[in-house]
Amino acid sequence: MTESQSTSAAPERRGFGVDVGGSGVKGGIVDLDTGALIGERFKLPTPQPATPQAVADTVAAVVREFGWEGKLGVTYPGVVTNGVVRTAANVDKAWIGTDVVQIISGALDGQPVTVLNDADAAGLAEERFGAGKDNTGVIVLLTFGTGIGSAVIHNGILLPNTEFGHLEVGGKEAEHRAASSVKDRKEWTYERWTKEVTKVLVAIENAIWPDLFIAGGGISRKADKWVPLLENRTPVVAAALQNTAGIVGAAMAADHDVTH
Ligand code: BGC
Repeated sequence: MTESQSTSAAPERRGFGVDVGGSGVKGGIVDLDTGALIGERFKLPTPQPATPQAVADTVAAVVREFGWEGKLGVTYPGVVTNGVVRTAANVDKAWIGTDVVQIISGALDGQPVTVLNDADAAGLAEERFGAGKDNTGVIVLLTFGTGIGSAVIHNGILLPNTEFGHLEVGGKEAEHRAASSVKDRKEWTYERWTKEVTKVLVAIENAIWPDLFIAGGGISRKADKWVPLLENRTPVVAAALQNTAGIVGAAMAADHDVTH
């Protein structure tokens, strides 16, 4: 077959995502058709204190490492509406009211930036490319970490800024009851901790009846130790993309702006 006859694959569509976490700011180039990273991730430590300008400068440094010049997506661990941060449960309170799109875009000479909630980004990626890819129903992704993040997705459409971690469950905020940081602090066993997780899942499933829960966050790497102990009704599966979900979901959000 000559070169002109060969069926060359369509060029991959590339995006760029940055995941801002408590300890690291991680970025990478994403193949938007497969959800795979193209090349390695690059990570810089999250500046301390993690003020908006310091984080924006770190995001810019990560982006420049790749020479990326197009639009990009960035996660933030709280509510973001129309590019403005509204909550800061586990981060510096100076973030509240910050026009985070403007400040990051400003650090990047005006490059177009989409900012979305960290769990929302992970949910978009998991639903399309990860643990939810074969499910057509309503998916709720929960991230268990310092707090509890949540994402609700139906057929690729995200309902942004659900904050199930702050639902009151049995007189206590869900994330104060069942984040993985609570397990660590109280030195609970998986058996003890999953009793609390079950209560949170039951509260959510009674309110919105999802078809599937995806459990994310660092503790989902040990999902075999605790997911089988859950006693709620809806199936729960572990996240599949692990530490790339935030980057991939941020790139997806920027590609097809889901924040407006
Ligand atoms: C925040 C969420 C965030 C989650 C995980 C919660 O405390 O309110 O917006 O997704 O922590 O970072």
